[in-house]
Amino acid sequence: MQEYDSGTGPQQASSAYSAAARHMHWVTAGAILIMVPLGLAMTYRGGTLNIWDGLTDALYSSHKLLGFLVLWLVAGRLTYRLLRGAPPDEPTLLWWHKAGSHLLHWLLYGLLLVVPVLGWVGVSLYPSLTVFGLFDLPALARPNQDLATSVLTVHGKLAIVMALLACAHAGAALYHHLIRRDGVLRRMLPGLR
Ligand code: HEM
Ligand code: HEM
Repeated sequence: MQEYDSGTGPQQASSAYSAAARHMHWVTAGAILIMVPLGLAMTYRGGTLNIWDGLTDALYSSHKLLGFLVLWLVAGRLTYRLLRGAPPDEPTLLWWHKAGSHLLHWLLYGLLLVVPVLGWVGVSLYPSLTVFGLFDLPALARPNQDLATSVLTVHGKLAIVMALLACAHAGAALYHHLIRRDGVLRRMLPGLR
């Protein structure tokens, strides 16, 4: 299977994503898998149970720090994607598979940027920028608690939309691998040369 980032020769229909694209994909996927339950757990503990102790603070700080790092990882990944492109679509796909997957991928990229930016704007407005009491994230806006509540509500709702889309996306990848038995999942698996 030819790697796409070699930059040499014609792109073969069975090309895989480059090693860099695959690594960034799986690190992002792992981060989202952690961030969504973390966000839900901390708001349940702090908001619903109203427990504000060291553990709740640590959950919020971890969420802010990891989310902030995810934002820069996604910015790098998106730049790489725009500059280097993606391998050609798997050749056996129907036209609507291609259209649907492209739409879903770009929606995911958009949400991967918008969700952490809204989180960052929200904590700037609140303001609650501290991370483990060790340092503050840079502020993006002046304090405004009412607006902070709205922004963080939209942040949380869009994060859930992203998680649902990511589940549909993972389900589609498994459908291709297990039922259609084509090469879609293999193009993104780690461990290829
Ligand atoms: C990809 C990155 C992120 C994901 C997937 C994510 C996901 C979530 C989720 C699922 C919630 C819970 C929403 C709810 O209970 O209704 C949440 C809440 C929250 N997130 Fe994020 N988040 C991300 C990045 C960030 C960043 C970068 C910050 C700030 C720097 C942040 C700050 C917050 C805060 C303060 C809340 C609590 C909101 C509230 O109490 O209503 N998040 N996030
Ligand atoms: C178990 C979970 C996942 C599986 C099995 C999976 C699988 C895949 C596969 C096979 C592709 C390549 C599709 C193609 O060749 O057309 C892909 C691309 C992609 N995935 Fe995932 N994925 C998972 C989780 C995620 C998550 C959590 C996100 C983000 C929220 C995500 C975002 C993307 C994006 C944006 C692309 C497009 C890559 C590009 O063309 O630049 N994936 N995924």
